[in-house]
Amino acid sequence: MDRKFILSAFGYAILGLLLGIYMAASKNPAQHVTHAHFMLIGFLLSFIYGLCHKLWLNNSTSKIAIVQFYVHQLGAVVVLVGLFLYYGQFVPIETIDPVLALASIAVFSGMVLMKIEFIRCTKE
Ligand code: HEM
Ligand code: HEM
Repeated sequence: MDRKFILSAFGYAILGLLLGIYMAASKNPAQHVTHAHFMLIGFLLSFIYGLCHKLWLNNSTSKIAIVQFYVHQLGAVVVLVGLFLYYGQFVPIETIDPVLALASIAVFSGMVLMKIEFIRCTKE
C-alpha cells in the first residue's frame, strides 16, 4: 500500500506542478485553487498516507486499507477534475457543486478511515 500511495502522490505532484508552472508562465492565476488542492489533497495527503502505511500500519492490505485507498483516490480525482473544470470555466458552479460536495465527503471519509486504521494498528 505504501508504494501505491507514494506513486499516486508523485502523479498528483507532477500534474499540480505543471499547472503551477503554466500559471506562472501565462501570468494567469485562475487555477490557483486547483493547483493548491492537487498539491495538498493529491500530493501531500497521499504521501502522508503512504508514510503511515510504511511507518505504522505494516503495509496492511486489510479490507479497510483497500477501501481507504480507493475512497481517497476517487474523492481526490473527482475533486481535482471538478475544480479544474470549474476554475477553467468549462462548467457552471450549479452543475459541478453537487459533484464537488460528494467528492469532498469521499476525501473526508478517507481521512476518517485512516484514523480508524491507525487506532486499530497502533493498539496491538
Ligand atoms: C514548480 C513549482 C511551483 C510553481 C511554478 C507554482 C506556482 C504557483 C502560482 C503561480 C500560484 C498562484 C499565485 C497567485 O495566486 O497569484 C500558486 C499558488 C499556490 N501554490 Fe504553487 N507553485 C509551485 C509549487 C507548489 C508546491 C510544491 C506547493 C505545495 C506543496 C504549492 C502550493 C500552492 C498553494 C497552496 C497555492 C495557493 C496560495 C494562495 O493563493 O492562497 N505550490 N503556485
Ligand atoms: C474535502 C476536501 C477539501 C475541500 C472541500 C476544500 C475546500 C476549500 C475551499 C472552498 C477553499 C477556498 C477556495 C477559494 O479561495 O475560493 C479552499 C482553499 C484552500 N484549501 Fe482546501 N479544501 C479541501 C481540502 C484541503 C486540504 C486537505 C488542504 C491541505 C492539506 C487544503 C488547503 C487549502 C488551502 C491552503 C487553501 C487556500 C488556497 C487558495 O486560496 O488557493 N484544502 N479549500
